Amino acid sequence: MIIWSVTNQKGGVGKTTTTVSLAGFQALLGKRVLLIDLDPHGSLTTYFFQQTATASDSVYALFRQPAICRKNLLPLIRSAGIKNLFIIPSSPSLAALDGKCSGQRGQGLILTRWLDLAREQFDHVYLDCPPVLGVLMVNALAACNHLVIPVQTEYLAVTGLKRMRETIRMIESSKGIRIAHTIVPTMYDQRTNASVNSLGMMKQSFRRELWDGFIPEDTLFREASFYNKPISHFALTSRGARSYHRLAKDLTRISHAH
Ligand SMILES: Nc1ncnc2c1ncn2[C@@H]1O[C@H](COP(=O)(O)OP(=O)(O)O)[C@@H](O)[C@H]1O
Ligand SMILES: [Mg+2]
Repeated sequence: MIIWSVTNQKGGVGKTTTTVSLAGFQALLGKRVLLIDLDPHGSLTTYFFQQTATASDSVYALFRQPAICRKNLLPLIRSAGIKNLFIIPSSPSLAALDGKCSGQRGQGLILTRWLDLAREQFDHVYLDCPPVLGVLMVNALAACNHLVIPVQTEYLAVTGLKRMRETIRMIESSKGIRIAHTIVPTMYDQRTNASVNSLGMMKQSFRRELWDGFIPEDTLFREASFYNKPISHFALTSRGARSYHRLAKDLTRISHAH
């Protein structure tokens, strides 16, 4: 099982779209895939369902009653309505989690421990993170084998990336771990200076961690979400789908290399 965390401390950069798209391609390959929606806004959950879940049916339960959830993994996991694709939904109550968990011992490893038990059931797990450095993001960074950082190709992106890099370093040093990561330029529009220049800046500042492709701006992503389908299951030959397909293959190769 490979655990991927899709994270950036900025909202609206393509985290949820990247989560769904990568998961879609793995599911299409016949891999068993689990999505976990860690964002209180629940965009990943509402990608597939009409609404977010209640506290007891969501990932919130996993954090508030970890011992019970470890005894029986199944109740929280639902089908996403796509073959091989499963999801643990979010609920708005997740927004209050930081206040409830702060200071509790072992609170940063709740997800790691739960996922240890699900190891046999899934080939890939994707953690869709909120844009906030709190207990949810800390859990995701501790649990993942590989971090995927979608970055919108616009001017403020590089500043945001520096903040993300500081967060990674902080968690690496507090937990004594190394977090492998790949930066993915998103919403690239070659007709705009903002896209072209900011991609150039990323190449200068983050060459080692930067994926050598980019995800183009493509209106079909919004349409796919309207039909509750990953782009792989909606418009397989679109430009957006082809670039996420390549990303999925490249990431699989990188993850086998470490
Ligand atoms: N490559 C893309 N081209 C066009 N629209 C995109 C692309 N990636 C994401 N979007 C749209 O941008 C909005 C924000 O994306 P989302 O993945 O929800 O970001 P985040 O999870 O980081 O907040 C959504 O409406 C999504 O459909
Ligand atoms: Mg999101």
